[in-house]
Amino acid sequence: MNNERDVKSDVKSDSNADHSHPQTRLCPVAVFLSGRGSNFAALARYVQERTQEGKISFRINHVFTDNPNAGGLTTASDLGIPYTVLERKAFSSKTELFQAYQEAIWASGCELIVLAGFMRLLPSEFTDAFVGKIINIHPALLPKFPGLHTHQRALAEGVIEHGCTVHFVDGGMDTGPNIAQAAVTVLQEDTEETLAAKVLAQEHQILPWVIDQIASGRIWLEAARVGYAVRGSCTYEVRYGPGVKDEIADHGWRVPSAVLTAEK
Ligand code: GRF
Repeated sequence: MNNERDVKSDVKSDSNADHSHPQTRLCPVAVFLSGRGSNFAALARYVQERTQEGKISFRINHVFTDNPNAGGLTTASDLGIPYTVLERKAFSSKTELFQAYQEAIWASGCELIVLAGFMRLLPSEFTDAFVGKIINIHPALLPKFPGLHTHQRALAEGVIEHGCTVHFVDGGMDTGPNIAQAAVTVLQEDTEETLAAKVLAQEHQILPWVIDQIASGRIWLEAARVGYAVRGSCTYEVRYGPGVKDEIADHGWRVPSAVLTAEK
């Protein structure tokens, strides 16, 4: 992932690859987090289990955080995974902060960025440099409840189902094209805590699986129509390799119906 041109040209499918054999080249993944890092820990467990079985397409190469006290850093240390702390207060502007993140990612050699509880909105200059190479886990069934306090809002609205979404990231707040969703039933007796726990258990399952699919070229983001409406605009669509949608359904998850988005 050395420059913008390489990143964009790297958005392609390897859907005919034979996944029954161990993949020798593991996609180097960067995890961005700001807090306790339970998704990161679940990801690390998945990598460990799958590596023992010889069925893995990625490795966690580096952890990035804006919070020097993030719990996830203890996990990173315990696992011997290098991490970088880049705090907002060390930079004179948000632009400079994210330029530093961009350079650090290039230096790390990571090819896929996973936002797992990273509490900062990425500027479009940053997301444009990594199109199709950043995903996020969000604790709601997007497009419902983007932003914060999703469980509280779901309960307040009285929804009967809630859940989580893995999506490609663009410059908006939880707006990029959705990849897969896991739903949970909201029970009358649910509190914010019980609902959060049910959703989090799903997050820990769906995020590693989606990363594995992207890293092995079975899910990717493709430019559907370039320069279609507005000069410089581009529309992207999530593509699924053969059998991937069936596997999503087998897990009890969903392929979101609206997968198109427009970016400038
Ligand atoms: C998760 O609920 C994730 O969906 C959201 O932030 C939370 C992070 O939790 N983006 P953790 O740090 O992974 O435990």
